[in-house]
Amino acid sequence: MKEMNATRVINRIEAFAKKSTHGFDSGHDWWHLDRVRNLALYLQKAENTGDRFIIEISALLHDIDDKKFRTTGGPGADAIISELLMGLGVGENIIHDVIRINKYISFSSGAKNEISSAEFLIVQDADRLDAIGAIGIARAFNYGGFRNNAIYIPDNDGGVNNPSTIGHFYDKLLLLRDMMNTSTARELASERHKVLEEFLGNFYHEWNFPKE
Ligand code: ADP
Ligand code: NI
Repeated sequence: MKEMNATRVINRIEAFAKKSTHGFDSGHDWWHLDRVRNLALYLQKAENTGDRFIIEISALLHDIDDKKFRTTGGPGADAIISELLMGLGVGENIIHDVIRINKYISFSSGAKNEISSAEFLIVQDADRLDAIGAIGIARAFNYGGFRNNAIYIPDNDGGVNNPSTIGHFYDKLLLLRDMMNTSTARELASERHKVLEEFLGNFYHEWNFPKE
């Protein structure tokens, strides 16, 4: 195995991550990965738990092979991550951890209780924090536009058959505050949750203007 230099490994993973989001919407671009990495490292410090190296790599690679953007054929996340990290001389145990975090992080995978390592809980919190607050609102409308969904469908707050981005707030975004794993993320989430509520209040006010 090659000698592993943490800074060099991170630089190489960043370069790979930048390329990996090609074709994803702007809510899932490189800057999402960068924000999740920064949030995750912040949570690690505040909580003083989890391995920083594993957290940073896992954050940068958490959206590899995201099912929302998956094309058929081609290697899956396991193979992509193994090949990249093995080539950089990262140890097998770390690779295993990164793959598991990638696999179970998704809100929609419904498999959130399968692992509970400190690294997993922190990266999951960071990813969820980036889905709420002002950034979360921007990401939701961008993704909705990318899928050509309606902004809002009155009298239909959510659901898969008739998706709207305001509906997505009720399907997911407003639930995230109470799903945080760490207390530091819970505090940040409560601020960001207020931003969502304030936004919705303003949205309905303007939508109904001047009726109310
Ligand atoms: P995860 O990747 O954790 O499974 P999602 O795929 O549900 O989470 O969401 C990732 C990002 O895409 C979030 O910012 C989320 O708000 C946005 N998003 C996902 N589905 C929708 C949707 N139907 N409408 C608007 N935004 C969406
Ligand atoms: Ni993500």
